[in-house]
Amino acid sequence: MRILLTGAAGQVGGELVETLKPLGEVIAPARAEMDLANAASVREAIRSVRPSWIVNPAAYTAVDKAESEPELAFAINAEAVRVMGDEAKAIGAGVIHFSTDYVFEGSANAPYRETDATGPVSVYGASKLAGERALAESGAGHLIFRTSWVYGARGKNFLLTILKLARERETLRVVADQHGAPTWSRDLAGMTAQVIGQCEAKARGRELAAVLADVGGVYHAAGAGETTWYGFAAEAVRLQREKEPGVRFAEIEAITTAEYPTPAKRPANSRMNCSRLAERFGWKMMDWRDSLRKVLAEV
Ligand SMILES: NC(=O)c1ccc[n+]([C@@H]2O[C@H](COP(=O)([O-])OP(=O)(O)OC[C@H]3O[C@@H](n4cnc5c(N)ncnc54)[C@H](OP(=O)(O)O)[C@@H]3O)[C@@H](O)[C@H]2O)c1
Repeated sequence: MRILLTGAAGQVGGELVETLKPLGEVIAPARAEMDLANAASVREAIRSVRPSWIVNPAAYTAVDKAESEPELAFAINAEAVRVMGDEAKAIGAGVIHFSTDYVFEGSANAPYRETDATGPVSVYGASKLAGERALAESGAGHLIFRTSWVYGARGKNFLLTILKLARERETLRVVADQHGAPTWSRDLAGMTAQVIGQCEAKARGRELAAVLADVGGVYHAAGAGETTWYGFAAEAVRLQREKEPGVRFAEIEAITTAEYPTPAKRPANSRMNCSRLAERFGWKMMDWRDSLRKVLAEV
């Protein structure tokens, strides 16, 4: 089986390189060989690889910068995904795509379900929603995993930023009125490989497209439990203090979103109900406190 993997240098892509390996040959072109900002480059790469699966964790992920670069964000997060869908449909490949809690407006008072109305409040969120829709419209067999607050021991993420700043400063002010769940990049990658394996097992003697017509669509895949950015930072620093008792770390202070203005608006409620993933594929995402301990052991 040939799997075309994008964004292999990213947080989730880096973990997917490892978890997808046992399933077949993983082909992970560098950005120069498959540039998602360029539809022709995406098309050519897919045509030359002719994969059974396209796994696409690559994205324009700079949430604030997207407000001033909407064309580029939409090219990478929506147009490239449309091409992936069209090409996958033509060759009968399956597409795994990743999306975000930022497709929601964030005012609901319960965890979001896949069937809830979307309503992005940022360019990034709108571009990711456009990518979801383009993939669905292509008619390719696909699965979309909406996740949130992705982090791990490597890459650019909130946890690593907090741990660095906590060593340098006296106090860190962190937003305490955005609610959601941190998601470990490795948990997401492990889930993805397991889901592909299950789809392949179901496809024996059947078209993959028919299997994906049954089990495909959108799934919420975020860490279990819930917290705020403040809660996440405070717990990370508390655990790090236990690990390094001789080191002085900053005090973590709770602030409101209004006290920390950013170019992009963010949903106040990012919580996602992941029961569809558990029911269809038997995968329960790891509780964020358990994954945090595992990640800190690697940092
Ligand atoms: N990070 C989060 O908190 C979060 C939350 C919710 C959903 N998500 C979604 O989860 C997925 C994975 O996120 P992540 O945190 O792993 O992202 P990431 O670490 O920012 O990695 C993104 C990858 O995309 C690649 N990329 C960007 N522009 C490209 C282009 N024009 N052509 C080819 N590759 C390009 C980057 O390549 P370079 O290495 O060359 O820059 C990088 O490897 C994304 O779909 C994201 O929208 C993320």
